Amino acid sequence: MKLTDLRGILQYIPQFREKTFILAIDGAIVTDDNFATLMLDVALLWSLNIRVVLVHGASAQIKSLAEDRQVKASDLDGAGVTDAATLDLALTAANRLTHEILEGLSANDLRAAYANVIVAHPVGILQGVDHLFTGKVERVDADLLQSLLAQGVVPVIPPLGFDGDGKTYRVNSDGVALAVAEQLKAIKLIFVTAQDGLIYHGTLIPQMLVGELARLIQQDAGGFAPDMISKAQHATGACAAGIPRVHVINGTLDEGLLGEVFSNHGLGTLIYANEYEHIRPAKKKDVRAIQLLTRQAVEAEELMKRSRGVIEKSLGDYFIFEIDKNPVACVALHVYPEENQGELACLYVSSSHENQGVGRKLIQFVENKARELGLRELLALSTQAFTYFQSKGGFVEGTPDDLPPPRREKYDHSGRRSKVLVKKLG
Ligand SMILES: CC(C)(COP(=O)(O)OP(=O)(O)OC[C@H]1O[C@@H](n2cnc3c(N)ncnc32)[C@H](O)[C@@H]1OP(=O)(O)O)[C@@H](O)C(=O)NCCC(=O)NCCS
Repeated sequence: MKLTDLRGILQYIPQFREKTFILAIDGAIVTDDNFATLMLDVALLWSLNIRVVLVHGASAQIKSLAEDRQVKASDLDGAGVTDAATLDLALTAANRLTHEILEGLSANDLRAAYANVIVAHPVGILQGVDHLFTGKVERVDADLLQSLLAQGVVPVIPPLGFDGDGKTYRVNSDGVALAVAEQLKAIKLIFVTAQDGLIYHGTLIPQMLVGELARLIQQDAGGFAPDMISKAQHATGACAAGIPRVHVINGTLDEGLLGEVFSNHGLGTLIYANEYEHIRPAKKKDVRAIQLLTRQAVEAEELMKRSRGVIEKSLGDYFIFEIDKNPVACVALHVYPEENQGELACLYVSSSHENQGVGRKLIQFVENKARELGLRELLALSTQAFTYFQSKGGFVEGTPDDLPPPRREKYDHSGRRSKVLVKKLG
């Protein structure tokens, strides 16, 4: 990490200050070499006034403990049947893991506490099968969590729940993380796993709208690795419960957590709820963002170079597409009132968000605006994306004669010889 990266982090601080992140850590990560770094990163988040709650799983440890003791675990992740022997394994494994996490946090001078906050009841008999000691989260003691957080204490929550009679149940840690995130109105739920993120048919999903993920799960759940389907399901559940962003990251990577939290294009998967996507008019402070966003495309001659002054002069024509308040794409609509034409210009989608329909949404947005203004025709000039405008935007190839006279003059002068694309709006 470079010192200058600190400037990039600065933009996130106001949005994250005093907000809650839930870190759902798979048991396998606690024994990984990178665990100490992960705990250091938790300390860094706390130092930025981000309230971090840790929830952990225990399946990897239950598995190895079962092997050591030569008993058969009836279930590993708290989703199936938990018999008495497996509950005993879960208690030993979970307590040991909670302890190791507490050790890791105190090594970084963080105050932390084992939080007994999950009130559970037995899952009961499902399709004729008694799930015995497998529990379902009934309630989260949010008051206790809030008071710990208010005192600067990091709560550590194991995958265990208690009922009113003091009986213990094994609960699924993804479900615990979701319930805690919902109760605390967390702004992020981060699943820290041993995988790179959500992998669908062998390909990592870098980011996806929750609706799209829900559709994939419904139509083709088999496309996800078996150990990741629970993360995918809980990610959609969390977004539906009002958590705006869910991340799935690889906890064995040095920069896995900070890279994901403090950048627009982390290494893992981001699942986000709709309201985080937004097209808005550009403001003065966006001029630099537009220049930074489009710099690469300008260098590759995909876009015309625009000076600060040029953008500022027609700033009212520019729109920004943002995700989580970060500009990831831009577009402009220049209007030629005399000819009743509009020009869609400066369309750019950052490479980290390509091929997710953002470009199409911006074309549609500009087209709607042009129709609202009663324009008869929308034009676009492109050197390398003309087939895109044709196949995805419904434009047809025109000629420079289609351009309004002032634009024609600039066109001839630039020597770029872009193709002219036209869409009739009548
Ligand atoms: C062209 C651009 C705006 C596309 O944005 P995007 O959000 O990635 O595109 P979408 O997700 O809406 O569409 C993706 C589809 O377009 C295709 N596509 C992307 N760039 C393309 C190009 N230059 N030419 C032809 N097709 C292209 C993709 O292959 C994909 O096809 P598929 O859906 O059949 O698989 C983006 O790549 C970009 O910013 N390019 C550089 C700047 C530029 O050329 N701007 C246009 C001049 S105004």
